[in-house]
Amino acid sequence: MNLAVVGATGMVGRTFLKVLEERQLPIDNFYAFASSRSAGTKLMFNNKEYTVLELNENSFKEYKIDIALFSAGGGTSLKYSPIAAQSGCIVIDNSSTWRMDPSVPLVVTEVNPQDILTNKGIIANPNCSTIQAVVALAPLHKKYEIKRIVYTTFQAVSGAGMGGWSDLEEGLKGNEPKKFPHQIAGNCIPHIDVFLDNGYTKEEIKMVEETKKILHDSNLKITATTVRVPVFNGHSESINVEFNKEFDLNELKECLENAEGLIVQDDVKNNLYPLALNASDKDEVFVGRIRRDESVENGINMWVVADNIRKGAATNAVQIAEWIIENM
Ligand code: A2P
Repeated sequence: MNLAVVGATGMVGRTFLKVLEERQLPIDNFYAFASSRSAGTKLMFNNKEYTVLELNENSFKEYKIDIALFSAGGGTSLKYSPIAAQSGCIVIDNSSTWRMDPSVPLVVTEVNPQDILTNKGIIANPNCSTIQAVVALAPLHKKYEIKRIVYTTFQAVSGAGMGGWSDLEEGLKGNEPKKFPHQIAGNCIPHIDVFLDNGYTKEEIKMVEETKKILHDSNLKITATTVRVPVFNGHSESINVEFNKEFDLNELKECLENAEGLIVQDDVKNNLYPLALNASDKDEVFVGRIRRDESVENGINMWVVADNIRKGAATNAVQIAEWIIENM
């Protein structure tokens, strides 16, 4: 199996390499692509040095790539994913370009892996905030039928790539931001991606629409507020959920404890709840602060945290690749 990483020098790209190494995918030939800016850069993968190649239209055919993990921005995905798919490669794309295309599966392996079988050469990796949310929501939806979700996110700067990371680092030294519209150090910015005509940001609408697509339920009522916070890595989310069915809180917690890819950390007497610093560098999603929403009939609040670069991006894409290798 020949595997390529497109955008190998980026924040997610470098994590692709780390996760591929850790999970020991059966790769015969490995290729790292980026733009002309960093072509020639050396990268270590599985104790071997690789030279970053400049991506071009012939790359996929020339190197007979079977699976390509893309994290090189929307423009690169738009241009190169169809070219790759045409040459018989399966693209797992981390950008938002293809996510809402009805012919492209949008997959979180713990939730809807079977959707992978419908792919026509492109599989979309969901938005980082959506991935961690649906890992916790899917088992609850199955058991108690979700009626409405209210998302409030606290998103790390790593989600905005190298530029986001550098804005926080430089901001802490008193330097001006380059990536974000305002200083992020010591601040919370309720603005992720561009504003739309309805007053929401594109990030918020991504969470709304992607959740419905992954959970296969267009009737869900969902609203979101997404906020960039001065945390280097790890997204935190307050998720308020209303169900159609009644539930017993202990049984609901048990349902989360048994869910794949999810770790319950909920012991408030001992100050135990998920934290971005603890979730960083982990592949699982963490949930805690699980409590009844006493303002509605059947509702809860919970706090969901994950490493947005790992489970929110690289790990999820690698899990999709693993599923393809094992099942297709
Ligand atoms: P490069 O290093 O050549 O700019 P991040 O989101 O962390 O900033 O990373 C973006 C990644 O996407 C980088 O690896 C970047 O490579 C890559 N990239 C950007 N534009 C292209 C392009 N046109 N072709 C291939 N890779 C690209």
